[in-house]
Amino acid sequence: MIQEQWTAFDRYVGDLFGPPDSALDAALKASAQAGLPNIQVSPSQGKLLSILAQSVAARSILEIGTLGGYSTIWLARALPPGGTLISLEADPKHAEVARANLARAGLASVAEVRLGRALDTLPRLAAEGRPPFDLVFIDADKANTDAYFAWALKMVHPGSLIITDNVVRNGAVADPTSTDESVQGIRRFNAALAAERRVTATIIQTVGSKGYDGLALALVIGDPATI
Ligand code: SAH
Ligand code: DHB
Ligand code: MG
Repeated sequence: MIQEQWTAFDRYVGDLFGPPDSALDAALKASAQAGLPNIQVSPSQGKLLSILAQSVAARSILEIGTLGGYSTIWLARALPPGGTLISLEADPKHAEVARANLARAGLASVAEVRLGRALDTLPRLAAEGRPPFDLVFIDADKANTDAYFAWALKMVHPGSLIITDNVVRNGAVADPTSTDESVQGIRRFNAALAAERRVTATIIQTVGSKGYDGLALALVIGDPATI
């Protein structure tokens, strides 16, 4: 019953603020047809990502965990002309579906999907010496979330925003005795986030069509290069 209410309210929000969108609808349809798991952010969460990207005037975005590119489309659309997004994905099928979805959305030249495990592709990306990212969205395998945050910190600047998905997981993340590797990975991340002096951060719990979960928001306030 409660989940039904959350889903109904998300539909109400979606109808209010998100007019029908053929590229997003097509991305969800193609992802489902290809058998991808239905774990992308909700439409209202996608809109939130877009608002946050615009709030920091993001011109370059890094996403870790592409799936079918649904969140990627929301983030890439928030970029100004000339803006770029790189999304890291380990699963070749997910990457292929995402590239097709991005192309259909007219974002093929804006958003690049890099295939490989993020712990392999992040060091390569960091070694490219590109300008820091204005926004990082961490949403891949949860057990490595703390490691992704450490890499993200090397590739941002004061004013960048680091957003991490799935940091609540039905409240399971509050249980220190959990034997779930995902929960423990998120707990390590949350602890590192709280202890990190280069960011100011909080966790916002969310309910909606995707159940009960939450996002961590971290604004970079110090220069990571100097510490
Ligand atoms: N951001 C997407 C959802 C991502 S789901 C959205 O909201 O639309 C998590 C994705 O992370 C999956 O596609 C999964 O294949 C990918 N993933 C899992 N382990 C990974 C790893 N080690 N490196 C990169 N991607 C990984
Ligand atoms: C899972 C991953 C996600 O990114 C998400 O939003 C929900 C669930 C998962 O791996 O179960
Ligand atoms: Mg997620």
